[in-house]
Amino acid sequence: MSTRLKINGRAVEVQAESDTPLLWVIRDEIGLTGTKFGCGAKLCGACTVLLDGEPIRSCSTPLSRCADRSVATVEGLSRNNSHPLQKAWIRHDVPQCGYCQSGQLMSAAALLARNKNPSDGEIDEAMKGNVCRCGTYVRVRAAIKTAAADMRGRKA
Ligand code: FES
Ligand code: FES
Repeated sequence: MSTRLKINGRAVEVQAESDTPLLWVIRDEIGLTGTKFGCGAKLCGACTVLLDGEPIRSCSTPLSRCADRSVATVEGLSRNNSHPLQKAWIRHDVPQCGYCQSGQLMSAAALLARNKNPSDGEIDEAMKGNVCRCGTYVRVRAAIKTAAADMRGRKA
């Protein structure tokens, strides 16, 4: 069947079964491979994208739930790594193996969209669903603070 949705601001029409997980639509139908498959069971957060601005687990979200809605993936942050989060991730040298990082970035993007100056506790709460087996949590937190300061500075 045919489903319309927006991916990173671009309208797309997808031919897939309505129960197809959004992750596979993004990767296999749209060709955006930044979003990763980890556990497939809502446990690790590697597949995190935004649906109308809210972080969701795309491995466990059926395409039908996304009809006529907006999805944002890591590729949508910027084309040239110019988003404050991407710049902060580079500055703090956050990724190790990198596998969890696009999901981390999307959870961080959702956090900063609703909270311009998150505390350590608020960061930990927002990021708790994103598991990093390499243990980059301290650098993730530092990078989010740097990005938040950058974004506040721009708007001042
Ligand atoms: S792959 Fe979706 S939560 Fe782990
Ligand atoms: S950087 Fe390796 S799993 Fe997070």
